[in-house]
Amino acid sequence: MAIAFHPIEVCAAHQPFAECRGISLADELNNDAISAVREGLLKHGLLVFRNQGAMTPAQEIAFNTAFGWHDPDQNDFLFGFGAPTTEHRVSGGAQIPDLPEVSVLGNVLLDNYHGITNTQLKPVLGFTHSAWHADGLHDMFDGLPEMTTMFNPVGWQTRGGGATYFTSGVLAVERMDRDVLEELRQCVVAYVRSPNDEAPDDTRRVIPGSSRMTDEGTRRIGFSTSNDDPAAPLHDFEFKVEHADGGGRHAPIRRHPATGQEALYVTPSQAVCLLDAETGALRHEVKETIDLLARALRPSVGPEIRYEHNWREGDFVAWLNTLVLHSASDPSEIDGPRLMHRVRLSSPRRRERENDGRG
Ligand SMILES: [Fe+2]
Repeated sequence: MAIAFHPIEVCAAHQPFAECRGISLADELNNDAISAVREGLLKHGLLVFRNQGAMTPAQEIAFNTAFGWHDPDQNDFLFGFGAPTTEHRVSGGAQIPDLPEVSVLGNVLLDNYHGITNTQLKPVLGFTHSAWHADGLHDMFDGLPEMTTMFNPVGWQTRGGGATYFTSGVLAVERMDRDVLEELRQCVVAYVRSPNDEAPDDTRRVIPGSSRMTDEGTRRIGFSTSNDDPAAPLHDFEFKVEHADGGGRHAPIRRHPATGQEALYVTPSQAVCLLDAETGALRHEVKETIDLLARALRPSVGPEIRYEHNWREGDFVAWLNTLVLHSASDPSEIDGPRLMHRVRLSSPRRRERENDGRG
């Protein structure tokens, strides 16, 4: 059976995403299959592969390294500024000891799962607290992951909830108001210095709690006093421009070097302010930045526009962070056991290679 790409029907009117059929990812991929899938990823941004339950964690990693987007020397799977590279730890999750590239996320107690013992997984508030983002964008300077993959292994079927939301950053550029697009093209987003989970380095600990998002996950209204309660009161804390000192700087409208397409590439929950792309001078204060990013995203993320992927056993989903924005839904919606694998590998550093130096 030849590899073929079919539109995902529930979102075909609004999103370019596709289901990839005719391939078993548990088999070794030959060069033809790799180039077909690579082309499919660049064209559609996100691919769903159904019935891939035979995949092993090593094969998940092999998929992630097949396309030349990863950095083989990368060994910090947490990303982050100076996070410890020897103690792999993901907030609320675990990592497979022999294959730390693979994070295991969910809500179940694991014992002897690929070498993970006595570990209670704890899902984090996705849509209320972090909402729309691209992986690595707020907690890396460079080498951001081109691709993220998630896998729902056989034997772990959630009864309901737990969807992952996706929207095309390319179509977001087409949908946003022209004045917003023109302005964002002149800007670089200054992100907060990353607190990076429970890392002991207090100099990274800027934010007192998780961001609280509203308006379909586009607008930050403050920082929560609880990581579990979506209705908890907010801290008496607001970002000031100085909170971006030492943080990442990334263009909110990014032209993809392979496709030439412009895409919206933002993580509003962690954005502090907007700087002039040419001069580095402050262009928009914190509140204006919140407004502009919300205006840019809002036309592309409503329930009728976004793709809500409801996970089935054996689903393997791969997306390009440079072309697609995503958000978890909230764990309060998860009914039943939940266990997922996630892989995201750094890309080689691009700063010197890309023409505009803003990648
Ligand atoms: Fe993510």
